[in-house]
Amino acid sequence: MANSKVTIPELQSWKGKRKFTMLTAYDAPLARLVDQAGIDVILVGDSLGMVMLGYSGTSPVTMDEMIHHAKAVGRTAKRSLLVGDMPFMSYQADATEAIHNAGRHIKEAGMDCVKLEGTAKQAPIARVIVDAGIAVIGHIGLTPQTAASLGGVNVQGGGSLDAARRILDDALAMEVAGCWAVLMEAVPAALAGLITRKLKVPTIGIGAGPDCDGQVLVTHEMFGLFAGFGLPFGRRYGEAGELISRGIHQYAEDIHSGAFPGPENSFPIDEAILRELE
Ligand code: KIV
Repeated sequence: MANSKVTIPELQSWKGKRKFTMLTAYDAPLARLVDQAGIDVILVGDSLGMVMLGYSGTSPVTMDEMIHHAKAVGRTAKRSLLVGDMPFMSYQADATEAIHNAGRHIKEAGMDCVKLEGTAKQAPIARVIVDAGIAVIGHIGLTPQTAASLGGVNVQGGGSLDAARRILDDALAMEVAGCWAVLMEAVPAALAGLITRKLKVPTIGIGAGPDCDGQVLVTHEMFGLFAGFGLPFGRRYGEAGELISRGIHQYAEDIHSGAFPGPENSFPIDEAILRELE
């Protein structure tokens, strides 16, 4: 693993040769771990709404909340390419607002590019942001911000020829709009493989099978710190939730039994001073 900063042209040059790795992080401690482990791309996803902020979905997340978390990641990660997610209604209403908000991720938070959810209908907005000089990832398939209009958190593109063709069209539209990569969420593996072969730009999969050029997961879900989104995308790589919970129970027990704090956690004072006080 080289120590130099990962770049978009470098990741694009890996297409068909080498897979790239991507994980979410929303704060400095996790950004440091992910960056130092050599993960190629860090996504400050709007999943932070559910994972960090306790919302029931991603649509309430504001631009200011995104920037607050992205700044922590931007200050910390040194090597990984950094992606700032565009939250719901930060880019859909108006092109000027879309450029302004994408620009905040770059200028205020130190992100290298942004990601936006959509179909071919949002491709013109991606184009406007790209033309303003900001690199964009187009997120297609299951788009959690608009899950209600997709009929819930479901696999996309698997039900009919029309549905599969729509996903392919969305991917092509994002590529034509200038997106440097296309992220596919909850798309049947063989369809994602076909799209990966048809696109010149890299694809990134989450619940989209093994043939995508890169893979992304929500780190808190990988380690049992978040229950998940309802589809079996991920794999458990550790039980940090259980570990923390056991530690917290032990802490409470130690306080009640008097085992904590011990002498090693306490500070001495001169006996003479104490005697005077008494
Ligand atoms: O917000 C997020 O974490 C995402 C991933 C699920 C790809 O968009």
